[in-house]
Amino acid sequence: MAKKAQIKRIGVLTSGGDCAGLNTAIRAVCMAAFQQGWEVYGIHNATDGLIARPMMYKKMSVLDFAVPYARLGGTMLGSNNTGVFTRQKKADGSYEKLTEKEFFKRFKEGIEQLKLDALVVIGGDGSTAIMSRLCKTANVKMIGIPKTIDNDVPATDEAIGFSTACNIVMDALDKLDTTADSHERIMVLEVMGRTAGHLALRGAIAGLADICLIPERPYNYDEVVQKLREIRASGRTHALMVVAEGLKTPEGKNVYASNGHTFGGIGQYFVNRLSEEPDKFNVRLTVLGHVQRGGSPVAMDRLLAVAFGTYAVRLLASGAKNRLVVLKNGKLTDVPLRHALKIAISPVKPNDPMVKMAKSLGMYIGHK
Ligand code: F6P
Repeated sequence: MAKKAQIKRIGVLTSGGDCAGLNTAIRAVCMAAFQQGWEVYGIHNATDGLIARPMMYKKMSVLDFAVPYARLGGTMLGSNNTGVFTRQKKADGSYEKLTEKEFFKRFKEGIEQLKLDALVVIGGDGSTAIMSRLCKTANVKMIGIPKTIDNDVPATDEAIGFSTACNIVMDALDKLDTTADSHERIMVLEVMGRTAGHLALRGAIAGLADICLIPERPYNYDEVVQKLREIRASGRTHALMVVAEGLKTPEGKNVYASNGHTFGGIGQYFVNRLSEEPDKFNVRLTVLGHVQRGGSPVAMDRLLAVAFGTYAVRLLASGAKNRLVVLKNGKLTDVPLRHALKIAISPVKPNDPMVKMAKSLGMYIGHK
């Protein structure tokens, strides 16, 4: 590890879509930093906190965790996932659009005004990439902690929030199965996962689904129908089907939500089409949506959040900078941010153990 650093004060922020476990991670970073005798500034609403004038931040203390925040979903610091990082929310709730140059300048000023020696960024792939550029320009040390229910951050086997979201998908399937059984129905469950199907696939396996379609795996509509016919022929009159929101239609089109920029609607596509089959399938749709990002973190996410948060502080204490904390082959370690961010996202690969497991179960997950 690098030479010991003289750190006195660090910042911590959450960036990108929220998920369960963020507060546990914030607490872990703060507690571990207090142990080092450092001050911690919680930056509100991701970059907004440093860009807005007046800035939006809070000096953290142990009393912030005397209330049960760390057990809850969401983020006590607020976040931002507009995607347009130069569009900034002001303290009064209105937005201002800055040039990229002005944005970088204000970020640097913010870091300097707060006298931050380092910044711990709890974020997904997109926000970590942006934050890494900003921190480099501002000449402040950064340590990244991966979080996302999509579990698509390259370099880590698992990100904070993923396990809880998998549990939510599993729980939904458990609940849908009883109605499916009672009413002889095919239940289609649309889950999140913009470009990666980890959540859909793991949730489908844990929730004992029959079909799981994800963006990474080509599929054939007729094979979906065939699978449903096979289930019926076996004597079972109900079935569970999971589709990831980022899945394209058999015609190769993405389906967008009414806001025009997030995915949503592929489940409805299947319900409409399957209902028209001569088999008279009785099909119903459930869209889980942001339910998957909420709730109390499960033990796995809390442990991961504590492991990542405390490790991030130890890294800084040892003099390290510009690293991403990761879990690799069950081991807590770190990689250079620039390596981790070279690959845009980490998809479900053909040799993923989950793919093998699903196939062994006879689940239809697209082409063999
Ligand atoms: O990246 C996490 C994620 O939950 C995706 O799965 C989903 O497409 C997106 O965020 C939804 O974002 P928003 O909160 O903007 O609707």
